[in-house]
Amino acid sequence: MRRGVARAQPVLEHRVRASDEADLLIHGARLLTLAPLRREAPRTGPVASELGVVEDGWVAARDGVIVATGRGTTWQRLELSAGTVERSVQGRVAMPGFVDAHTHLCYAGERWDEFTTRKSGADYLSVLERGGGIHSTVRATREAADETLLALVRRRLAGAMAQGTTTIEVKSGYGLEPDEELRQLRLIARLRDEAAIDIAPTYLAAHALPGRYVEDRKGFLREIEQALQVVAAERLAEAVDAFVEKGVFEADEVRPFFTAARKLGLALTAHVDQLNDVGGAAWAARLGARSADHVANASADGLRALAKAGTVAVLLPGSAFFVGYTPPEARRFITARVPVAIATDHNPGTSPLEGMPSAIAMAAVLCGLTPQEAIVAATVNAAHALGRGDRTGALVEGRRADIVVLDTDDERDLAYRLGAPLVREVYASGRRVAERPDA
Ligand code: NIG
Ligand code: FE
Repeated sequence: MRRGVARAQPVLEHRVRASDEADLLIHGARLLTLAPLRREAPRTGPVASELGVVEDGWVAARDGVIVATGRGTTWQRLELSAGTVERSVQGRVAMPGFVDAHTHLCYAGERWDEFTTRKSGADYLSVLERGGGIHSTVRATREAADETLLALVRRRLAGAMAQGTTTIEVKSGYGLEPDEELRQLRLIARLRDEAAIDIAPTYLAAHALPGRYVEDRKGFLREIEQALQVVAAERLAEAVDAFVEKGVFEADEVRPFFTAARKLGLALTAHVDQLNDVGGAAWAARLGARSADHVANASADGLRALAKAGTVAVLLPGSAFFVGYTPPEARRFITARVPVAIATDHNPGTSPLEGMPSAIAMAAVLCGLTPQEAIVAATVNAAHALGRGDRTGALVEGRRADIVVLDTDDERDLAYRLGAPLVREVYASGRRVAERPDA
């Protein structure tokens, strides 16, 4: 039996038309549609917890796109094609595939030593200052041959997918020197072409200052600005990113790079106010950034600016957990009506998380999102953070059939049963891409 639904949820029911043909049908589900309430927009404030639940619901797709959703046995009026995949999921939760809006999947080498030193007291930014941290991953990644790097990223993508991720952002950022960044972006582009899930590539140009530019910061910033021409011409990235932090890059010095990127049609996203309040949230919002990420130390002014601009705050509880700094307080963001998304921030330094279910549980336990808010933050709001708010993140006619079936009849388990293998079946664009052997 269902265990307590907090309050009545809006139900959108599609009228099945005789012409509706399907090649994928999932029925008998507790369906979380996350259907738009009024207009296509990230959810904020009081509606940031609306999941659009349909009990005994179904969803049907054809050629990778959702054609209809409904309740009960109305799916019987659908026309099914010969090879239709039909699943009766017996009360289990079916929901949109997760959108992981912030990852650094493209790297070689792990940072076990640094992890160990930090756990015995060393500070993240001082390790970086001494040429370790990001720089050590840069060395390992530069040394990795294309095929080696591709194999590593493929394995991580498969891990994310098995845990329900159907859309994922992948940043460069472990090249630093533009030529090496371009190599990594070209490899990410190859993966984007072959992957079963949707990859959103980001040029993380200003992640750390390469050693040889220590006396010439301006020179480095000029170089990355020049690289934008190639990035745009070869369509290697949808967005650009920078690490704006004390002792790393200052907002003012990154501004010309961001402005140039925006002129070329690239979206903006930034690592801001992660360890210190550097006014990064307000800065990103004013530049029209699509998202401001980390924001654990963002000021009240910063939050107001994000809300006003509609910039999505991407909370990354995994890095707060692994590094051990104070996590972002989600309630401040929800109360200020800032759109909130969550992501794994998968990277070898601050967050080795691969799957969104762990990020959801951590967002609830560490940041104080309700389980429902965390689910919104991992689906529809995260889709907006990647400029895909009208393509995925909800089970609605016309969207990509990105669907996850959980091994539970209560979605709150995602936040509650940390580490439990809850993801049972995963469909990306209507194709089954992962399934637990016992499903
Ligand atoms: O999101 N803070 C900047 N970038 C990453 C960590 C990168 C690293 O330590 O390798 C982050 O936490
Ligand atoms: Fe990050």
